[in-house]
Amino acid sequence: MVTATVPEQELKIGSTQLLINNEWVNSSSGSRFETINPATGETICDVAEGDAPDVDQAVEAAKAAFYSGEWRNMSARSRGKLLYKLADLIEENQEELARLESLDNGKPLTESQNLDLPFVIACYRYYAGWADKIQGKTIPVDGSYFCYTRREPVGVVGQIIPWNFPLLMQSWKLAPALAAGNTVVLKTAEQTPLSALRVGELILEAGFPAGVVNILSGYGPTAGAAIANHMEIDKVAFTGSTEVGRLVMEAAAKSNLKRVTLELGGKSPNIVFADADMDAAVEGAHLGLFFNQGECCNAGSRVFVEEKCYDEFVAKSVEKARQRTVGNPFDPTTKQGAQVDQAQFDKVMSYIEAGQSEGARMLCGGNRVGDRGFFIEPTVFADVDNNMKIAQEEIFGPVMSIIKFRDIDEAIQLANTTMYGLAAGVWTKDVTKVHAISNNVRAGTVWVNCYHAFDTAAPFGGFKQSGIGRELGEPCLENYTETKTVTIRL
Ligand code: NAI
Ligand code: MG
Repeated sequence: MVTATVPEQELKIGSTQLLINNEWVNSSSGSRFETINPATGETICDVAEGDAPDVDQAVEAAKAAFYSGEWRNMSARSRGKLLYKLADLIEENQEELARLESLDNGKPLTESQNLDLPFVIACYRYYAGWADKIQGKTIPVDGSYFCYTRREPVGVVGQIIPWNFPLLMQSWKLAPALAAGNTVVLKTAEQTPLSALRVGELILEAGFPAGVVNILSGYGPTAGAAIANHMEIDKVAFTGSTEVGRLVMEAAAKSNLKRVTLELGGKSPNIVFADADMDAAVEGAHLGLFFNQGECCNAGSRVFVEEKCYDEFVAKSVEKARQRTVGNPFDPTTKQGAQVDQAQFDKVMSYIEAGQSEGARMLCGGNRVGDRGFFIEPTVFADVDNNMKIAQEEIFGPVMSIIKFRDIDEAIQLANTTMYGLAAGVWTKDVTKVHAISNNVRAGTVWVNCYHAFDTAAPFGGFKQSGIGRELGEPCLENYTETKTVTIRL
């Protein structure tokens, strides 16, 4: 039974305005919108609704901060120091930020505390360390010239983030962009504006110069589209649906050819061979799919299981899913919280219906949990065909599809039969199979005998329609810098 409540005394909301040029301001229209608690469906508070005129003002501020040189020409070490300072402030306010995150998003507090926040802090520290290590080269050219390259910031960067990991996505976007000397206009997801605004307060406290970081709450087709179409934004970094990623790229092409990086959807295969440690594989597939309410772009949402161990795997997976505790995100025993909003709840339920009507075998779950908020039972479908809707479209919820395969060739062929290519998992003790899968499955990340094993130093991103460019690690910095070649006649 779900009784999601947040003790009032633990609820501390920061600013609810727009952060433009180091000031908290109302939107120029004066409009505001409500953000809800997904565990109850009740309104938490309302926040300023940014739209095109506010994006214009934020871009003006970011442009001024960029061209004045105060930020990009600041000693790189000092830029790094400010990012370290921000990481320290987030760490000091970690507990409060974790609560805000779970309140606005519906994810279990234990996960906000133990996974999201530590990763956020690590991300700011990792890129703080990069700030003074972004280097050019000297190039041996013909003739009497001295030729070298500089890696300069791209300029004003627009960033549009989703609601599934609000603080984490903010850190993946802000940290590398700022380390490289860009200035930023970041739009949060309309479902989860609160934690990013609190980080905005910490950015002011850390002492970043005015205009370097601007944060807007607002909707996609208005504020988001204004960013994607803006003539003065030099690059846009987007995380969200493949459908909107396409719109962002189109807008970039039709406006000023701004650089585009996209982190989009997935339908990642998680492949289990009969020789695997079966309990570890069951556990890995369970977490690979159900973690974060299934709201992960990299969720292992197609579980391919070798014929020989199929029945055992299915039975164990169903047992595990049945035991998963769903409910109040603030209860420490909760493993699965609420889906983020009514729209996502409805979308997931419609896929559960589709799975049943397409003839997959639903072995557990399928229902709403409780009578308020957006909780869904962990759901397992067996005998799924890779061509079914539930095996091809991104569900973004707690719905596992288990598909049988005969041999490794069929596993690779099925794994690659998708428009996506974000991640993949493989469970086996056979090193030959490990290499066959990791070399031949078309995905940006392959996890072997593990899943969701992220690190801020390890690049992450998509093949195919899962995206363009990489986040995290060193490659991300390539997307936030332009190479300038300087040639001097000697
Ligand atoms: P979405 O792609 O609409 O939203 C992501 C971000 O894009 C939000 O900040 C939103 O305001 C913004 N946005 C929406 N329309 C825009 C536009 N026309 N121009 C510029 N920005 C725009 O995703 P949504 O509707 O929240 O979720 C739909 C599905 O997308 C999910 O069910 C899931 O399958 C997928 N998704 C994937 C994510 C990922 O991590 N790759 C994250 C969130 C959603
Ligand atoms: Mg909310």
